Amino acid sequence: MPNISRRMFNQGALGSLLTFSLLESLFVKDAFAQELKPLAAKWLADLNAIGQDVKHRKLTQVEWQEQVERLMAQANLADLMKFVDFEKLTKGLPLSDRGELAVSRKFPEVEGLPTKLVFGHQIFALKKDRSVAPHGHNNMATAFLMLQGDCHGRHYDRVEDGEDFMIIKPTIDDQFTVGQYSTISDYKDNIHWFQAKSKTAFIFNIHVLNVNAEITQGGRVYVDPFGEKLAHGLVKAKTLSKKQAYDKFG
Ligand SMILES: [Fe+2]
Repeated sequence: MPNISRRMFNQGALGSLLTFSLLESLFVKDAFAQELKPLAAKWLADLNAIGQDVKHRKLTQVEWQEQVERLMAQANLADLMKFVDFEKLTKGLPLSDRGELAVSRKFPEVEGLPTKLVFGHQIFALKKDRSVAPHGHNNMATAFLMLQGDCHGRHYDRVEDGEDFMIIKPTIDDQFTVGQYSTISDYKDNIHWFQAKSKTAFIFNIHVLNVNAEITQGGRVYVDPFGEKLAHGLVKAKTLSKKQAYDKFG
């Protein structure tokens, strides 16, 4: 009996040891998988949650801007670019002689990232000196993140809308390099204009539509920021058709 007990004990101990060893290797494997899990999936899921909040009025648009900018500051660009398959997506693109070329592909399906996102996304590709022409937005919260290259980026507050003009106020005028970002809402920095300063420039864009119950129209409103200078740094800027805007600034 003592022998059996001893054998049983040994088997038990060995069993425990095996179990421990198996658990340990499973844990290591899981930790390894965690490490391999794209940071981008969590980052995009967070971006989606903030987007849901602004869409459902749990966040104001300006709060959305603050939270998105905080996330943008934490973006792991190498991981994000791998996640969106940047190399393949942008290789040999026929870049436009005027304005930007927008490219987009569905994100890979990975655990933790909803397949139905509240925001639209694309990458804007520009040749040197070409621009995302100056435009304002209606009923949209949107963000730019520089993925590659440099841009001269300008933003303006849209202070007032006239018949064929806007009263605008310059708010941001900066050289944007890799990792830099800016955001837009109906209430702050509503107009932007990005001109490529490097051979090529690539900008990651996300946008949440229908964020304002008071504004039914959507889309871009093009504008010429070089208008009549008014008091207090304001500018009376003529609104433009898309063609006019891209002929002049694109
Ligand atoms: Fe825009």
